Amino acid sequence: MENIIFFFSGTGNSLKVAKDIAKEIENCKIVSMVKPYGFTKQYDSIGFIYPTYFWGLPKKVIEFIENIKLDNNKNAYYYSITTYGGSAGNAVYQLYELLLNKHGIKLNYGQKLQMFSNYVVIYDMSEKINKITEKSSEKLIPIIDSIKMKKNNRINGITKIFRFINKNFIKKVSTMDKNFTIDNNCTGCGICEKVCPAKNIVLVTNKPQYNHHCEQCVACIQFCPQKAINYNDATQNRRRYINPEINYKELYEYNNK
Ligand SMILES: Cc1cc2nc3c(=O)[nH]c(=O)nc-3n(C[C@H](O)[C@H](O)[C@H](O)COP(=O)(O)O)c2cc1C
Ligand code: SF4
Ligand code: SF4
Repeated sequence: MENIIFFFSGTGNSLKVAKDIAKEIENCKIVSMVKPYGFTKQYDSIGFIYPTYFWGLPKKVIEFIENIKLDNNKNAYYYSITTYGGSAGNAVYQLYELLLNKHGIKLNYGQKLQMFSNYVVIYDMSEKINKITEKSSEKLIPIIDSIKMKKNNRINGITKIFRFINKNFIKKVSTMDKNFTIDNNCTGCGICEKVCPAKNIVLVTNKPQYNHHCEQCVACIQFCPQKAINYNDATQNRRRYINPEINYKELYEYNNK
């Protein structure tokens, strides 16, 4: 039987995890959550891999889970992993709740995996990319083993404050792109347009224009080879980060399959 992993990713961490798991499971395909998905067959296992945003789920992930039809896949093994930087808050439990409330499906296994923290809008990027990446890869090994053995675990919800903070973020996220600025270093290369998982950027006379359906994944800021995209005046002097094993072409291909 076949297996499927759904992912959402801005800077590549969650795609890297999806790829590492898919390598270890036979007959496993990887599908982006940026578009609705119509199931045509039954799967043995169904995974969801996504970053933590404001202690909860990204908007795209909420919409994707709300809209999929899982009626023919009620008996699959369901698992989820959230990649996060410092605190995953409610990001696993929120998915557990959504699956249960919307589809009557119990998430069998949920985990958080600490990876490189990419939210450049709030803090500078750590210089310790290699060390942090190495640690994450080590922590992923037992998680993959558990998924291969179809283990179950208990998924606990955390405090109301996390729920409140994520709800507020989801409310305003679409228009947070009004804070992005483009400076004169922009060469019109179009990488930001390609890498945006929300198709929120269109190049107009060789300059990116934002269209207010942003997910705040920061891929445009992080992938711009000229560091020409900034968030107000917060990010000009900060380093940039992209998962060392994922490039923009690969993200683009997965998001546009
Ligand atoms: C908008 C936004 C909000 C974030 N919020 C959190 C958070 O609440 N807790 C946390 O630990 N990391 C947070 N992060 C960091 C990401 O969850 C982390 O770097 C993740 O691995 C990025 O995955 P990706 O490379 O697949 O996009 C946030 C990142 C972004 C862009
Ligand atoms: S990625 Fe940077 S340089 Fe390229 S078009 Fe976008 S803003 Fe301009
Ligand atoms: S506009 Fe930038 S931050 Fe917003 S979804 Fe697109 S790539 Fe991500």
